[in-house]
Amino acid sequence: MKALVVYGSRWGGTVDVAQTIAKALTQEGFSVDVVDAKKSPQSIEGYDFIIVGSGLRADRWTKEALCFLETNAPALRTKKTALFVSCSMADRKDAGYETGKKRYLDAIATQYALTPISMGYFGGLMDFSYSHGLLVDIIVRINRRNLRKNGLDTAKVHDTRDWAAIEAWGRETAKLALQ
Ligand SMILES: Cc1cc2nc3c(=O)[nH]c(=O)nc-3n(C[C@H](O)[C@H](O)[C@H](O)COP(=O)(O)O)c2cc1C
Repeated sequence: MKALVVYGSRWGGTVDVAQTIAKALTQEGFSVDVVDAKKSPQSIEGYDFIIVGSGLRADRWTKEALCFLETNAPALRTKKTALFVSCSMADRKDAGYETGKKRYLDAIATQYALTPISMGYFGGLMDFSYSHGLLVDIIVRINRRNLRKNGLDTAKVHDTRDWAAIEAWGRETAKLALQ
């Protein structure tokens, strides 16, 4: 069985999430290709199972990951699929948790008329020691104090990617795909 994991990433945090999912699929017997959505394959015909995911910025998947879904939606509807996101809303302890899940996963599945066998909702990586683009860097600098009050100290690395949970989801999802 062949699987494809396509990921969208702006700052690199989602790369290792995709790789961890791929490792879990391999352990369950899949032959897996992991592909950056910026270089997504011409055809997905050779794959039995396709997982697509993204990091978030201002409530948006990356444009390349969305473009992959848009371009391949008809073929994806004929295959087993799963979606995942790696983002800060997944860490929320209030109603924001469910809001993010609906907005970033359920709404994407609906938008492309997909029926994923599973959807993974994982924490992300925020490291403001490197640039997120001039505009974001300026906004972060100006709002540093407010962000800290709301629990985001931009002087620290916030890495809430739970590798055990990501791997467990990958294995569970692989088993579902084999049913
Ligand atoms: C400028 C900026 C905007 C973000 N916007 C959101 C957001 O709207 N919702 C969310 O859940 N996470 C948001 N995040 C968290 C990212 O989704 C998280 O850091 C993720 O790991 C980024 O993935 P990437 O490094 O692969 O692009 C944001 C992060 C940054 C730096």
